[in-house]
Amino acid sequence: MSRSTESVAAIVVAAGSGVRLGREIPKAAIEIGGVPIVVRAVRSMISGGADRVIVAAPEAWVERFAQWLAAYGDRVTVIAGGLLRQDSVRLALGYVGNAGIVLVHDAARALAPAFIVDRVIEAIRGGAQAVIPVVPQIDSLRRTRKGSTVPVDRSSYLRVQTPQGFTTAVIKRAHEAVGTTEYTDDATMCEAVGAEVTTVPGDGLAFKITEPMDLVLAEVIARGE
Ligand code: C5P
Repeated sequence: MSRSTESVAAIVVAAGSGVRLGREIPKAAIEIGGVPIVVRAVRSMISGGADRVIVAAPEAWVERFAQWLAAYGDRVTVIAGGLLRQDSVRLALGYVGNAGIVLVHDAARALAPAFIVDRVIEAIRGGAQAVIPVVPQIDSLRRTRKGSTVPVDRSSYLRVQTPQGFTTAVIKRAHEAVGTTEYTDDATMCEAVGAEVTTVPGDGLAFKITEPMDLVLAEVIARGE
């Protein structure tokens, strides 16, 4: 089958606790402009071209998330995530069905614009095996060394966002081969099994909501929608 007709399944990983935000509820359940982070992330995947979405949720929140997403019917499936982010992705891979393209997206990047999702899908349709959205490093950078620090050239570093895109074959192979090695993203894992990683321009709006100030920023952005 040509990649232009392959269907797209997006995995939204939303099973983290979000301790760095200092709230009682998981990060994905926090509302931005009255809409939970997980709902915004799913909306972004669907608007950008995903046919189906699998959400990995904290176990105790599976039913609640499913209720919030009920309007999408069987286009959205909510499952319990795992201990590590990569466990959540592996579990969700069991639900991608016959999709030929898989996206993996952090729910915490709740405001990722649809055009980035589309860009990633198009790069896979165009022949790439693994695609990451990237943005330039804007701060000066230093590396710690022997109790001191040394400057590094920031122009040779990129910050990696999500959604990341893959052919289903590549991401499944990567997750089968992973063993106990921990990875912070899926593209790195795919590279470890020989896939070439392609970059597309990311966008500031795909920032990861991590610290309390990020929530303030997200609220302001949501208000302007
Ligand atoms: O911890 P970090 O910010 O890197 O997590 C990135 C994303 O992975 C978050 O959206 C979080 O909900 C998700 N995650 C997950 N399962 C875990 C840990 C994190 O789905 N066990």
